[in-house]
Amino acid sequence: MTDCQGDGEAAKSLMELYEKLTAQGDKIRALKTAAAEKAEIDAAVQLLLKLKMDYKEMTGQDYKAGCPPSENSVVPNNGPAADGDDDDDGDTVDPWNVSSTNAKGVDYDKLIVKFGSSKIDKDLVDRIEKVLGQKPHRFLRRGIFFSHRDMHQVLDAYEKHQSFYLYTGRGPSSEAMHVGHLIPFIFTKWLQDVFDIPLVIQMTDDEKYLWKDLTLEECHHYAVENAKDIIACGFDVNKTFIFSDLDYMGSSPEFYRNVVKIQKHVTFNQVKGIFGFTDSDCIGKISFPAIQAAPSFSNSFPQIFGERKDIQCLIPCAIDQDPYFRMTRDVAPRIGYPKPALLHSTFFPALQGAQTKMSASDANSSIFLTDTPKQIKNKVNKHAFSGGKDTVEEHRKSGGNTDVDVSFMYLTFFLEDDEELEKIKQDYTSGALLTGELKKILIETLQPMIAQHQERRKQVTDEMVKQFMTPRPLNFKA
Ligand code: TYM
Repeated sequence: MTDCQGDGEAAKSLMELYEKLTAQGDKIRALKTAAAEKAEIDAAVQLLLKLKMDYKEMTGQDYKAGCPPSENSVVPNNGPAADGDDDDDGDTVDPWNVSSTNAKGVDYDKLIVKFGSSKIDKDLVDRIEKVLGQKPHRFLRRGIFFSHRDMHQVLDAYEKHQSFYLYTGRGPSSEAMHVGHLIPFIFTKWLQDVFDIPLVIQMTDDEKYLWKDLTLEECHHYAVENAKDIIACGFDVNKTFIFSDLDYMGSSPEFYRNVVKIQKHVTFNQVKGIFGFTDSDCIGKISFPAIQAAPSFSNSFPQIFGERKDIQCLIPCAIDQDPYFRMTRDVAPRIGYPKPALLHSTFFPALQGAQTKMSASDANSSIFLTDTPKQIKNKVNKHAFSGGKDTVEEHRKSGGNTDVDVSFMYLTFFLEDDEELEKIKQDYTSGALLTGELKKILIETLQPMIAQHQERRKQVTDEMVKQFMTPRPLNFKA
């Protein structure tokens, strides 16, 4: 829709949309009152969310019951799905905040509906197994990567021997990364191995400069230090390019051309709707989403893909990054590029409980990749929220709750053996396994895992970092 502000027709259809939204809200309330089937309520909520997105697209504002739009509410050329995080279900998920009022954490099924992505269901996991001819990663088997966009399309391409590439990233805000940050990188490493494809990793030192009280030098330094942790995950130097935005943006005309193309096709209204920017945010923040979008397009990396602009990109990340890629997918066809596909993970929870994700800004909520075995032990014993009962007697009698127990949740991320995990679950639920014993299993899982990471990181030399971070051709079969 262009140049239609105040246009009579557009205002009329906006009013119709508003009325449909009001009616749909009434319908959902009636369904809930009548205790209708869950599937029927979910379908009605899904339609409501779709209408809300249409409304935001037309007006740049959230729909509010009881506040009809004014004649001038229609804005020109307004954009993609808003973050959809505006209905009051107690969950907040965006690139800066993750919180839930529920001890089990964010309701991920609801989030799929809100964000308009698709569930990674058993059929998809089975298909991945069939296509690869090997057992899917535990993150897929256990629903840790739970949502996707266009993954079937990627598998179709793979089956036809068409190439695609991986893209993920990190915002380097401090030297120490935490265990939660490892999740997308562990999974990306697996994807790189099984699909044998190139990978680009964006270090958004520019983003951190814009958002945090840090100097450019500090952000760039953290980018290089974090790159060492990423390299320690085992990426193949012949298939991986890691880049700092502060370095690469200035040296790659092709990358910058894509940034500008994206900037031209996204309005201020759209980014306000998606990211919640306000008039007092600096203009660097407002234009930054174009920089996180640009690596989704293959011709941003001519040293790897030549002039090809049609190679599809697959982005593994936690679902907090999805707003960037909803915007990217909206822009892509308008500038002649394929939409990136996505694989979304759940959040590795804070030690204190699944109401928030593990976050570097709260040292006590996190296990850092630099922690000593003693620190790990103390943090788990002192802070890991327990689903156990208050007394041993009570626990033996009625058992613990693995749905809210952080130690158990951490084991679902890191314990490889499905049977062992299932046994722990049964023993904890029955009361045979006590909280202290469960914590001990977790400590003994984390300590060697982190010590091995630290050992591998020590082996990463400055020369290796330079190699990974130099723009160069990668092993890539077109
Ligand atoms: P950043 O540095 O906040 O996070 C890096 C990656 O880790 C994921 N993540 C988590 N995953 C599971 N549990 C957690 N508790 C947790 N905390 C963070 C994030 O989703 C992300 O995948 N703007 C981005 C950097 C970026 C990027 C990208 C990320 C640039 N391009 C492409 C993913 C894909 C950022 O600040 O990420």
